[in-house]
Amino acid sequence: MFRLTHYLRAIADPKPLGPHREPPGPVVIWNLIRRCNLKCKHCYSTSGDVDFPGELSTSQVYDVMDDLKGFRVPVLILSGGEPLMRPDIYDVSQRAKDMKFYVGLSTNGVLIDESNVDKLAEIGYNYVGISLDGLGKVHDDFRGLAGAFDKSLHAVRLLRERNVKVGLRFTVTLDNAHTLPDYLDLCEKEQVDKIYLSHLVYAGRGNKNRGDDAHWEMTRNVMTDLIERAWQSVQNGESKEFVTGNNDADGVFLLHWVRERMPEKEEYLRELLIRWGGNATGINIANIDNLGNVHPDSFWWHYTLGNVKERNFSDIWTDLSDPLLAGLKQRPRAIKGRCGQCAYMNICGGNTRVRALQLSGDPWAEDPACYLTDEEIGLETPSADRLVTRPFTGVRNEAKHNYG
Ligand SMILES: C[S@@+](CC[C@H](N)C(=O)[O-])C[C@H]1O[C@@H](n2cnc3c(N)ncnc32)[C@H](O)[C@@H]1O
Ligand code: SF4
Repeated sequence: MFRLTHYLRAIADPKPLGPHREPPGPVVIWNLIRRCNLKCKHCYSTSGDVDFPGELSTSQVYDVMDDLKGFRVPVLILSGGEPLMRPDIYDVSQRAKDMKFYVGLSTNGVLIDESNVDKLAEIGYNYVGISLDGLGKVHDDFRGLAGAFDKSLHAVRLLRERNVKVGLRFTVTLDNAHTLPDYLDLCEKEQVDKIYLSHLVYAGRGNKNRGDDAHWEMTRNVMTDLIERAWQSVQNGESKEFVTGNNDADGVFLLHWVRERMPEKEEYLRELLIRWGGNATGINIANIDNLGNVHPDSFWWHYTLGNVKERNFSDIWTDLSDPLLAGLKQRPRAIKGRCGQCAYMNICGGNTRVRALQLSGDPWAEDPACYLTDEEIGLETPSADRLVTRPFTGVRNEAKHNYG
């Protein structure tokens, strides 16, 4: 995740940099259930309204939570599928809160109404993220349910009335990129606390539909709009946060934006961004799926590091005999192609490895969704044969690959 507002605030009001501290453990995105009331075009978990046998029981979830606490995991993001379809979600959430995790709920919001909103508010989630991928019909078409937009917006209002910290999450594709300015106006009007703009990752249905990913130029326009809105918000002294996810080139893009607008701030920002280090898959981000399988992040469900029913998360996460995990934790990562030659690898960390894998069969190839120009990444000779996102043809490249 790239905390855009955090960096803009830092350059607006620079402070001396203290010693750099690594987070105590990874943020865990926990897909507690795969069943879902929606069937979104881009869904990495390929969820739908069917039962998925073998999911963790309540007591298994509690055992894992104890291990995560012992491993000093600071944050749990409870997700799915649709987490509110899990009957024990209130108990699980309350226990996580009582154990003093920072607890986020990741939901499509459709199931939040007057009947359960007080119960949700009482849990005291640190943050509730609701997905809205556009306005009105754009969102409904994306998510495959007429009326979904109205229901999710109603949920946002109910939660905001109860002072729950709410964020809206928008995954950019060809379908919705043009709606971003109106979308940001809506966020303003609804006084949401956080706006999370996510880039598409080629996993699950998001891989099958990767031909709908926004093109580089479109992504640049979207990012410029977002940065300008965020900067305005910082200038106005607002508390609203803008964050992005799943394309670590965003940090480098911001550095170029700052270089053009306020060159005197560039070096300070560069220092901060190097500390951030970009892509955190397998390092500061971890994923546990509905069956208890552990993955380097949510988009690696085809690659399992171990299962929490058999081994502690803490053992799985530190077992560097796994070649993929070892490669992800290596600094700098041994990345090839255009990313390997990029002058900003120390900022972006090589971006999203699963996109490279899906297009080339090699998790260490360049990320095809890097939207920076050759000049911006400091290439002396223009890159020939860039890896370009092609529509999915049904050939599963990852099956052929050796991850070592
Ligand atoms: C899998 S959903 C689960 C929670 C809930 N059902 C929802 O839709 O918000 C978690 C988040 O991942 C996002 N997401 C799903 N597939 C994605 C993909 N292929 N690339 C990027 N984000 C994706 C969703 O839009 C949502 O914001
Ligand atoms: S993205 Fe969320 S709401 Fe959509 S199908 Fe997947 S789990 Fe369900």
